[in-house]
Amino acid sequence: MHLTLLTLEEFRTYQQLALELPPEGLRIAGRNASGKTSLLEAIVLLATTRSPRTSTERDTVRWESGEEYGVNPYARLGAVVVARDRRHHLEISLELPEGTARIARKRFRVDGRSVRAHDMVGVLRTVLFSPEDVQLVTGAPAERRRQMDILISQIDRSYMRALSRYGKVLSQRNGLLRTFSRDRVDPGSRAAVAQLSFWDEELVSSGSEIVAGRVVALADLTDLVAERSQFLISDHEIGMNYHPRLDLPLWSRNEHGSPGKLQQRVQATFLSQLEQVRSEEFRRGTTVIGPHRDDFLMTLDGRPLDAFGSRGQQRLGVVALKLSESDMITNRTGERPMVLLDDVLSELDEVHRGLLLDALSAENCQVLVTSADRSPLEHPALDHLPMVQLSDGKLIGNQTPA
Ligand SMILES: Nc1ncnc2c1ncn2[C@@H]1O[C@H](COP(=O)(O)OP(=O)(O)OP(=O)(O)O)[C@@H](O)[C@H]1O
Ligand SMILES: [Mg+2]
Repeated sequence: MHLTLLTLEEFRTYQQLALELPPEGLRIAGRNASGKTSLLEAIVLLATTRSPRTSTERDTVRWESGEEYGVNPYARLGAVVVARDRRHHLEISLELPEGTARIARKRFRVDGRSVRAHDMVGVLRTVLFSPEDVQLVTGAPAERRRQMDILISQIDRSYMRALSRYGKVLSQRNGLLRTFSRDRVDPGSRAAVAQLSFWDEELVSSGSEIVAGRVVALADLTDLVAERSQFLISDHEIGMNYHPRLDLPLWSRNEHGSPGKLQQRVQATFLSQLEQVRSEEFRRGTTVIGPHRDDFLMTLDGRPLDAFGSRGQQRLGVVALKLSESDMITNRTGERPMVLLDDVLSELDEVHRGLLLDALSAENCQVLVTSADRSPLEHPALDHLPMVQLSDGKLIGNQTPA
């Protein structure tokens, strides 16, 4: 799949931009603060309906937006995507209603029709490589869960709906548990348990769909990471493992069964473990087990990559993971996602830069690669990509490949 046109209006530093993209992709050069990351952010937003950079959407609306015409600040993003030989138009508009500082009103349209966010996700699929990704190894579990959720949501809309249901029920349930904890309610109280069980059902049903989705995705990803990392780090083994917060048996892949079956088994485990932690939940005033506490850990020869890997090995681990994400999307959907490389080439040494770029050019996917300096872009594996130059949120000059 590929993007043929990206249009931005009042998005970040872009007052107006129309960027045409060839199927093979582009090299984008631009000094610091010229708008490279913002451009890729816009593409990911169109693919996933969420910014990879911020959870505060008002941050993405251009600061001066609306001032000139005396209207509410707004931003518009548009894309033309070619997927399975069909053309699709994606549009997102954000508006900041007067007075409310942080919450933007978001509207989504696919092929001219208004849709809900989860109906837009997956029309365009992307894998983003960015320098902050090393956080996937060294950072907090929340960031790893977020990235994993973005990946699985792009191939499974039902998973995305389960995530949103789970998020809602979790906050309601935690609210109730907080009052129980504050009022020192006895965990044996029938009335309290009955009140809680109203939320348990939804928690367990959406939660087990999430866990089952992660079990299956991680089984695939573990194998793909092992394969990909062999090319990048030949003398060590990089691994990736799922650490669910539920106490689940270690199922081998052929024990997974159908998605429904797997989900049922997770559901039974989830329910019985909820009962076991009831006293703790009443005391602490929060939901202590479930996919909101899961983690995914990368390893180097079986040891934690964050503690024992060198900085370079951690980066290569992330590169292997990202390439594997792209493989997984391709395997599941039959189409290569668009690959976005934001300033990552300068972080890799010559050899690994070559390995990454060769791997990507063998894939025949659309690649957008940005850099503040031209030299990392002048690599033979990128020669076929036209080079464009960004400056202050504008395209200046257009260079065709040599
Ligand atoms: N909402 C906004 N409105 C206007 N400008 C913004 C907004 N958000 C960020 N900016 C500015 O947009 C500019 C471009 O930022 P961006 O991160 O895209 O640059 P970049 O080319 O990736 O830079 P670097 O090479 O340093 O990573 C920055 O000067 C930033 O301060
Ligand atoms: Mg940047």
